[in-house]
Amino acid sequence: MAAGLLEQGEDAFRRLFKYYKRRQPPPDLSGVLDFSRAQKNFQVLLVPLNVTSISDQDASKAGLQPVCKWKAYSLDGYPGFTFIPDPFLPGWQHYWAKQCLKTYPQKPNVCNLDLHMSPEETTDLWEQSREQLRLKAPDKREAKSLLEKLRWVTLGYHYNWETKKYSPDHYTTFPVDLAYLSEQVAAACGFQQFKAEAGILNYYHFDSSLGIHVDESEMDYSKPLLSFSFGQSAVFLLGGQKRQDPPLPMFMHSGDIMIMSGRSRLLYHAVPRIVPNLEGKAIPSCLERITARDSDSVDTSFGQSAEGDWEICAKYLQNSRVNMTVRQVLGVGQSFPVKSDSESIADSQPNSYHQDPKEENEHK
Ligand code: SIN
Repeated sequence: MAAGLLEQGEDAFRRLFKYYKRRQPPPDLSGVLDFSRAQKNFQVLLVPLNVTSISDQDASKAGLQPVCKWKAYSLDGYPGFTFIPDPFLPGWQHYWAKQCLKTYPQKPNVCNLDLHMSPEETTDLWEQSREQLRLKAPDKREAKSLLEKLRWVTLGYHYNWETKKYSPDHYTTFPVDLAYLSEQVAAACGFQQFKAEAGILNYYHFDSSLGIHVDESEMDYSKPLLSFSFGQSAVFLLGGQKRQDPPLPMFMHSGDIMIMSGRSRLLYHAVPRIVPNLEGKAIPSCLERITARDSDSVDTSFGQSAEGDWEICAKYLQNSRVNMTVRQVLGVGQSFPVKSDSESIADSQPNSYHQDPKEENEHK
C-alpha cells in the first residue's frame, strides 16, 4: 500500500504525510497500526511497567487506573518509545478534556489567538464560545466560535514558535493537576524525577494536521516527552532521525498516552489526519460522562466537571481532537544560556507547524 509510493532517496516522510493527508481519494487506513486492537504485529512488544512506582491511590488521584492494569507497548526498532492505550479510569477523560477546553486556555497561558487579538478579547474563550457552541447545528456552515479557532495553547515555559526556544523570561505556573498526571505517568515508565515544565496543547478538527517536526527545543533530551490525546482519533506518523526514513503510521485514540524517550526522543513525527473514532459514535464511549452511581467510586480530588460544561465539551469533541504534550525543559542543575540582544526581542509569530486545510507549507 502506502510503502509502494516511496522512491529511493527522496523525502519519504513527506510523501507519506501527503498520502495520509489527502482528501480525494481518501487514504487506505488498513495498514495503520492500532495498539488498542489485539492484533498480531511482529513489531509490537508488550513491556512491563514499574507497578510499584506509583500507588493505586496516587494513580487514581490523577484519574488513572492502577498501573498493574495498564498495557504498555514498545516498538521494535524504536527504543524508548512507549504506547499506553487509554489507562484512564472511567469518567476521567472528560475531566482532562474539559481542562484543555475550559481551564488551560485561560490567561496567563498563551494561545494562537493572542497573536492577533488583545488580552481582553482572549480572556475567557470558554465563556465567549459556550452559547455559540451549544446552539450550533451539526453539518451547518456557521461562524466559528473562538474555541473552534483555538489551535494551540502553551503552558509553563511558553514555547516561542519564532525562535523555537523557551525562555526564563516567559514562564507562568504550570498547571498543578497536569504536572501531577505527567509525573505519575513518567514514574510508571521509569522516569521518577520527571518535572513537567512546559506544555503545548494542540487543537485539531477533521481538516487539521500538524506538520513534520522534531521536538528538540528542550535542553535535556534524557527526559521523556509525554503525549496525551482526547476526542476523535488521529493518524500519527513516527519517523526516524532523517526525513528519508519512512514513518510508521499508527492511530492515537482518545485516552491514549505516548512516551518518546531515549533514542526515540528526537525522531521526526507528524499528524497528517484526524479521523472519526473507530466506534462510529459521536464521541468515543471512553469519553462519556459516568453516571452518578459509578462516580461514587472515583476519587474526585481535582473535581468533576459540571453537567453543562460537559455538554459543551462533548459538542466540541464531536469534530475535534485535543493533544497535550508535556516536557521537562531543563536538566538537573541546568540553567538557560544567556541570551543575545536579538534573541531577547524576538516575539511569538504565526508558524507553519499548524496547518490549515488550504495551507500547503510544512513545518521546516
Ligand atoms: C506534537 O507532536 O507536538 C503533537 C502530536 C499529536 O498531536 O499527537
